[in-house]
Amino acid sequence: MALRITVIGTGYLGATHAAAMAELGFEVLGLDVVPEKIELLSKGRVPMYEPGLEELLGKHVAGMEGSSGRLRFTTSFEEAADFGDVHFVCVNTPQKQGEYACDMSYVENAFASLAPHLTRPALVVGKSTVPVGSADRLAAELAWNPEFLREGFAIDDTLRPDRIVVGVRSARAEELLREVYATPVAEGSPFIVTDFPTAELVKTAANSFLATKISFINAMAEVCEAADGDVAKLAEALGHDDRIGGKFLRAGIGFGGGCLPKDIRAFMARAGELGADQALTFLREVDSVNMRRRGHMVELALEAVGNTSFLGKRVAVLGATFKPDSDDVRDSPALNVAGQIHLQGGQVTVYDPKGMDNARRVFPTLGYAGSALEAVRGADVVLHLTEWSEFRELDPAELAAAVSTPILLDGRNALDPEVWRKAGWTFRAMGRPRA
Ligand code: UDX
Repeated sequence: MALRITVIGTGYLGATHAAAMAELGFEVLGLDVVPEKIELLSKGRVPMYEPGLEELLGKHVAGMEGSSGRLRFTTSFEEAADFGDVHFVCVNTPQKQGEYACDMSYVENAFASLAPHLTRPALVVGKSTVPVGSADRLAAELAWNPEFLREGFAIDDTLRPDRIVVGVRSARAEELLREVYATPVAEGSPFIVTDFPTAELVKTAANSFLATKISFINAMAEVCEAADGDVAKLAEALGHDDRIGGKFLRAGIGFGGGCLPKDIRAFMARAGELGADQALTFLREVDSVNMRRRGHMVELALEAVGNTSFLGKRVAVLGATFKPDSDDVRDSPALNVAGQIHLQGGQVTVYDPKGMDNARRVFPTLGYAGSALEAVRGADVVLHLTEWSEFRELDPAELAAAVSTPILLDGRNALDPEVWRKAGWTFRAMGRPRA
């Protein structure tokens, strides 16, 4: 009989994983402790924006018209324990309040709630991003299988992963996970079997590398600003070297989101506990370069409105989410910049295609508009801070007619300077003082 799978925690990771497992042909039960989430998911609705996820749920959630019926949801750990051969723990591990370290309480609660009900043989598989050494402390027939999904590409990253990493301690655990991932492995995803600590480290090491790559190009942007260079051309030239590669070399206002910033901090904190803090001191610099970008965008905006103060100035902000194709505003550089300008007295109006509700919740005192055109009306400066494709399709001439002063600052190096200048805009991109 096919394996029965449970997914504990139904956020970005868990909801996607549950739907993907159903798509791969397994019977799946998703569990969350928030009843409202379970109610929504049971109707095939998603509590966040992730392209394609609602369609995939619709294909499999029991009770939906024409669905395979392989996917159900519950709030009961007893039911989950009774149902599953393999339990995936997909709860979040945020940064602890006031500390760099990661908050493990959701993972610990998930294990503690499931364990007493496990009356038949089952494998518990951790997918959450945790400090190295955590798996060792958790009692269960256990495996560690980090996730690498990017928001906006979550389904594809789950169904066709670049690699599958499993930390195991028994042949049985490896065998079960080979069965779970038989389809993507047959389609070419490499399957890497390792111990617990290495499996835990792969995830934090990968995110640290990505964060370092972004901060590297942003450090180069700072040098380009000082030397009158062009960081976009520099990145293009660097990217042609196969050993470097062109991805994650887009300079701008830096990285944010629920993963990269907190993962590098938790990694530093854990290395400190292990007595290996020197190995990761460079990540402190990666973090500082990244945070400086936000401040630099605020300075460029101040310069644009006359260099004295934001008081009485109207600032339009295009983008609120930490990246496009997501409604996630956690540690969003765009909202952070908008917030700083607002706190310095500017009248900020934000527009984002999908992140408005979340942005309003985090920053209720900012102004919000229903479209880009409405946001820029009467603006003294326009800031492009999240590179939604919708913004690349804007008509610069139409916007120029609506603003008070046509100055555009591109915080993502994603708009075409020529097109905007032709329509009468003063255009300034980060790390490209003359481009
Ligand atoms: C990241 C990892 O990519 C993923 O593998 C892991 O599982 C979770 O963390 P995600 O947080 O969804 O995924 O976002 P990602 O696509 O990595 O982007 C992170 C941030 O970096 C965004 O704010 C993005 O705008 C920024 N970024 C990315 C840049 O500033 N420049 C770039 O060149 C690339």
